[in-house]
Amino acid sequence: MKKTLLTLTTLALLASVAEARTWADIKSSGTIKIATEGAFPPFNLLKGKELTGFEVDLANALAKGMGLKVQWVTQPFENLLIGLNQDRYDFVIASHGITPERLRAVDFTNPHYCTGGAIVSRVGGPKTAADLKGKTVAVQVGTTYLQNVSKVPGVGSVKTFPKDTDAQAALMAGRVDSWVGDKFTGLDLVKAQKGKLVQGALLFNERIGMAVKKGNSSLLKELNSALAKAMQDGTYAKISGEYFGQDIRCR
Ligand code: ARG
Repeated sequence: MKKTLLTLTTLALLASVAEARTWADIKSSGTIKIATEGAFPPFNLLKGKELTGFEVDLANALAKGMGLKVQWVTQPFENLLIGLNQDRYDFVIASHGITPERLRAVDFTNPHYCTGGAIVSRVGGPKTAADLKGKTVAVQVGTTYLQNVSKVPGVGSVKTFPKDTDAQAALMAGRVDSWVGDKFTGLDLVKAQKGKLVQGALLFNERIGMAVKKGNSSLLKELNSALAKAMQDGTYAKISGEYFGQDIRCR
């Protein structure tokens, strides 16, 4: 009896320190578990109960190419890479810029798109980095926008919001002078606000990739080849065109 108990305890311990699922594990299970935020239009968003957006469609297409079903998980942006390192899902696709800091925690695929962080203000508001002197800027927490805006010389206060859409709302409500976010998101926002907002300067460029747990090289390799194939066979261009009217791959 005692022996059985001990064995069970040992098993439970082993399970809790289990490694990330390798490509072979995922393949034999038939389902890949993918995490995103679901609040970052037009890249990943929840429309009612339906998860959609450029990255959602792209990841679904990649999984299809790999012969797998998908199980989606949504998490607040700040928790996504932590959950990855706790083996809660196989990979993350949530517009993460490939930065040296993040590369210390996770591994990234080849970039699935290239973009940058741009200023958006109400008409007459700040347009350049120099204009941000002494101004209040809204950004989503844990992002490269926060990192880069904080470096602008003389910037006033930087206000962080759990969700990017909340940071945008603060700009629209007049609680901040500017919002810094993705340049494509900014274009959509300016368009939707019909003449109330303007997009200003691009503060930085970034390459966006999918994250796997550090060391999960078998999955990384499969994702990279699925992405390369989608980029070659027209799948990528079609999805990108639907969301952006252009192909946003890195060149
Ligand atoms: N590209 C920015 C970064 O790397 C923002 C990503 C935000 N993604 C999201 N799903 N909210 O930090």
